[in-house]
Amino acid sequence: MIIGIPKETLLDENRVAITPGVAARLTKLGYSIQLEKGAGIKSNFTDEQYRSVGVKLVTSAKDLWDSSDIIVKINSPTKDEEKLLTKSKTLISLFFPSQNKNQLQLMAVDEANIIAMDAVPRISRAQKLDVLSSMANIAGSRAVIEASHSFPRFFGGQITAAGKIPPAKVLVIGAGVAGLSAIGTAGSLGAVVRAFDTRPEAKEQVESLNAEFLSVDINEDGTGKGGYAKTMSKEYIEAEYKLFEEQCKEIDIIITTALIPGKPAPKLITKKMVELMKPGSVIVDLAAEQGGNCEFTQKDKLVQEAGVTIIGYTDLPSRLPSQSSQLYATNIQHLFSEITPAKDGKIVFDMNDEVIRSMTILREGKITWPPPEIKKEISSIKKEPRKETSVVIEKKTKSKKTSSPIGFILSILALIGLGSVAPPSFMAHFTVFVLACFIGYMVVWNVTASLHTPLMSVTNAVSSIIIIGALIQISSGSFLLTVMASLAIFITSINIFGGFAVTKRMLDMFKK
Ligand code: NAI
Repeated sequence: MIIGIPKETLLDENRVAITPGVAARLTKLGYSIQLEKGAGIKSNFTDEQYRSVGVKLVTSAKDLWDSSDIIVKINSPTKDEEKLLTKSKTLISLFFPSQNKNQLQLMAVDEANIIAMDAVPRISRAQKLDVLSSMANIAGSRAVIEASHSFPRFFGGQITAAGKIPPAKVLVIGAGVAGLSAIGTAGSLGAVVRAFDTRPEAKEQVESLNAEFLSVDINEDGTGKGGYAKTMSKEYIEAEYKLFEEQCKEIDIIITTALIPGKPAPKLITKKMVELMKPGSVIVDLAAEQGGNCEFTQKDKLVQEAGVTIIGYTDLPSRLPSQSSQLYATNIQHLFSEITPAKDGKIVFDMNDEVIRSMTILREGKITWPPPEIKKEISSIKKEPRKETSVVIEKKTKSKKTSSPIGFILSILALIGLGSVAPPSFMAHFTVFVLACFIGYMVVWNVTASLHTPLMSVTNAVSSIIIIGALIQISSGSFLLTVMASLAIFITSINIFGGFAVTKRMLDMFKK
C-alpha cells in the first residue's frame, strides 16, 4: 500500500506527520511512501532527506491524496481535505470525533476508513501510540519557556555582589502530562514550584519532581472516567478559589492545564485573582483551546491585564516542530507496527484488539464511534500490577498446597526406606539435617522483601541462619569449630551490612 504525507494546511502549523527516519522504518514494513513536496521544511526535514530514504515526492496535495491508499497527517481534515477521502482510502490523523460528528458523517464514504490518533485508549499497552501525551509533554515544557520569555526576572535564585535574587515562584494547576512536564522544566530552571490537582494520585507524581503539592480541605476525588478528571462540586471549586487567591499574592508565574474531557475548561483563575498578582507576573493558559482556565485568556493571543501577561497560545507543540514531528512520527510508526502484523505493507484492522477498535472511528464506510467502553481504565492502571501480583501469589499458594503434601509424603517414605537399611547413629544425624533443611527453606522463602530487593532479602535471610548456627557453635570448645564459626560470622556480616549499604545507595539514587 502507498502512504501519502501531505503538507499540513493549518495556518502556523510547522509539524509534519512522518519524519525521514520513520519513513525509512515504514518502508521496511512493506509500504511505499510519498510526500507532498516541502511538507517537512518547516520542521527542518528537507525533501532531499526524504528522497534519500526512498520517499517519492509529489507536487500537489490533490495528486498525493489521489495516488495514496493511506493518508497520514496531523490535524483533523479541513473542509477541502474531507472531500479527498474517497472510496477504500484510509485516513490517519487527529479527528476529535465527539466534537466533529457532522464531519465524520460527511466523510463516511464507501469503504473508507479513519483512524483517529486522539482516540487512543488510556491503557498502558497503548501509551506508545498516544500522540496527545506526546504533544502535551512538549506543550507543558514550552509553556514554561514562553513564560520565561515574558517574565522580567530570572527563574533561579542567585546571590551576587549586586544583591540577592529570589527564585521565581511557579504554580502549576493540573498535574497531568502537560502539568508534570511544566513542573519538571520550571524546576530545572531553578524556580520554586507548587502544583495543584483534583486527582489524589497526582500528589506523589508532583512530589517526585521535587515540587510542593497544594491541597484543599474538602475530601473529594477528582478522578473520572478513563483516567481523566471529572467536574468538581461547587464547594470544591470554591475551596480552590480560596487557595488560588492566597497563592496569587506571592506566585510569579501560573501555568494552568486543567481540563475535563468534552466540557469547557473550568474557570479557575478569576479576574480578581489576576489583579492580586504582582505586576510582571505571567499566566500561561494551556486550556485556551477549550475556553481557558483564566477569565482573561484569549485563544492564541498574548494579552496584558493589570500588569500581568496572559498567554493563550494553542500551538505550543508546533513551536518546537522538529521535536514534536519526531514524537508524532514515532507514535505513527508504533501504530503501523500494530496494524501490519505480516510486515507486508498491508493494514489489518483487528477490531478485536481494544486499542485498534477504539482508534478506528470509520471502518469500510461505517461509523464505528464511539467504541465500546474498555473496562481497564487509567485509574486502575496503577493498581493493575498489584492485581497481577496477587494473582501470581494466589497461583503459587495453590500449587504449594497441592505439591507440598505429596513432597512431604514422599520424603517420609524415603526416610522409612533409608531407616530400614542405615545404622541408627546415621539416622539420628540425618533426621536433624533434613529437618534443619526444611525449616531453613521455609524461613528463607517466607521472608517478605520490603526495604531490600527480593534477592537481597533472601541472601540476608540465608546469612542470618548461618550466623545463628555459627553463634551456637562458636563456644563449642573445639578450636577448629570456633575458627570456622568466627569465619562464618565475619563473611555473613559482610553480606548483611553490605546489603544495607547497597540498599541505602539505591534509595539515595531514587531520592535524587
Ligand atoms: P487532562 O489534559 O485531561 O487534564 C489535565 C489535568 O487537569 C489533569 O491532571 C486533571 O486532573 C486536572 N484538572 C481537572 N480539573 C481540575 C481542577 N478543577 N483543578 C485542578 N486540576 C484539575 O489530563 P492528562 O494530562 O491527559 O492526564 C491525566 C492522567 O492520565 C495523568 O495521570 C496521566 O499520567 C494519565 N495518562 C495515562 C495515559 C495512559 O496510560 N495511556 C495516557 C495519558 C495520560
